[in-house]
Amino acid sequence: MKKTIITITGAAGNIAYSLIFRLLSGQLFPKNTKIQLNLLDVPESSKILQGVKYEIEDCAFESLDSIITTENMEVAFGDSDYILLVGAKPRIKGMQRSDLLLDNANIFKKQGIAINQYCRNSVRVIVVGNPANTNALIVSHHTPKIPSENITSLMRLDQNRAKSIFASKINVSVPSISRLIVWGNHSATQFPDITNVQVDGLDNFSHKYNSDWVKDDFIPRVQNRGAEIIDYRGKSSAASAASAVYDHLNCIVNGSDDWESMGVLSSNTYNISSEIFYSFPLSINNKNYKIIENIDIADLSLSYLKATEKELIHERDIIKDLL
Ligand code: NAD
Ligand code: LMR
Repeated sequence: MKKTIITITGAAGNIAYSLIFRLLSGQLFPKNTKIQLNLLDVPESSKILQGVKYEIEDCAFESLDSIITTENMEVAFGDSDYILLVGAKPRIKGMQRSDLLLDNANIFKKQGIAINQYCRNSVRVIVVGNPANTNALIVSHHTPKIPSENITSLMRLDQNRAKSIFASKINVSVPSISRLIVWGNHSATQFPDITNVQVDGLDNFSHKYNSDWVKDDFIPRVQNRGAEIIDYRGKSSAASAASAVYDHLNCIVNGSDDWESMGVLSSNTYNISSEIFYSFPLSINNKNYKIIENIDIADLSLSYLKATEKELIHERDIIKDLL
C-alpha cells in the first residue's frame, strides 16, 4: 500500500468543502493508494474544521488513510506530497481580486517560509487563494529550497469556463475541444485563446469563429465569469473552483494529453517578463510541465498578452516589500 499526503489550507472554507470529497473519490491515484489529509485552518475555524472531519469520516471512504486537523504549519506541511493553498479571504461584489492582495499576501509569505522549512523538495504546491498568481510568486520567492517548477497557480477554472462556453457556442461537447488555453493572470485581463483550438482533434476551426463574437462576447465573458458568479450567488465560486483544483491536481499526478493552462514562474518565454507567475500553454507529464513554445499567436493576441503581463507586474510592485 502506498500513502500520499495531501495538505489543504482553508480546510474549513467553502472550496475545501467541495474539494475534499472529490479528492477522496478514489479516482486520482492508483487503487492501492491511501490518502492522509492534513487539514489546516486558523484557530477561529477549528470547530467548523472538526465538523468537516466528522463528515469525511461519515463517508467511510476506501481511499482514506487518516485525517489530521491543525492550525500548525509544521504539522500540516511536513511530509506532505501535495499542498493546496486555498485558505485566504475571498472577494465580495464590487472588488477586483487584486484588492485582496494586501490582506492575503502575508498569509502566503508565512506559508512559503514554512514550506521551505518543513517540506521535502519534491512537494508540489498549488496556489488557489486570490490573487492566485501573485500569491504564488510570494510563495515561490520564500521557498528557495523547492524547485520553482513545483509551484503552480490555478488557471484551470478559467480554462474550464472557456472550454464550456466555446463548446456550447459551436454545439459540440466539451471533450471535443482541445488546445484551448488561457494566458496571463487569473483576473479580468486574462486572455482565453482559441487560435489553436482543435475540435475532435482537427485543426483550423478557430478561423470560423474568429469574429466579433470572440472579441465582444467570449473573451469578456470568460474574463468576468468570477464576478458574474459572485453577482448571482452572493459569494465567490466554490464548487467549480474545487472541481478545477481537482482537474489541476489530476494533471500533475496523471499527466495530460491536452494543452493545459497553469500559472508558472515566467522566464522570458514568449517575451513575457520574468519573475511573475503567468499562465502559459503547458504540456504536463510525470508531474512536470514544459511551456509549449512557438505556437501561433495572432497579431491581435499580442495586446492581450501584454495587458495581462502589465497587470501582473503592477501586482508585483504592490507586494514588493514582501519579496
Ligand atoms: P472561504 O472564506 O469560504 O474559506 C477560506 C478559509 O480560509 C476559511 O476557513 C478561513 O478560516 C481560512 N483561512 C484564512 N486565513 C488562513 C490561514 N492563514 N491559514 C489557513 N486557513 C486560513 O473562502 P473560499 O471560497 O474557500 O475561497 C478561498 C480562496 O480561494 C479565496 O481567496 C478565493 O478568492 C480563492 N479562489 C480562487 C480561485 C481561483 O481560480 N484561483 C477560484 C475561487 C476562489
Ligand atoms: C473565480 O474566478 O471564480 C474566483 O477567482 C473567485 C473570484 O473572486 O472571482
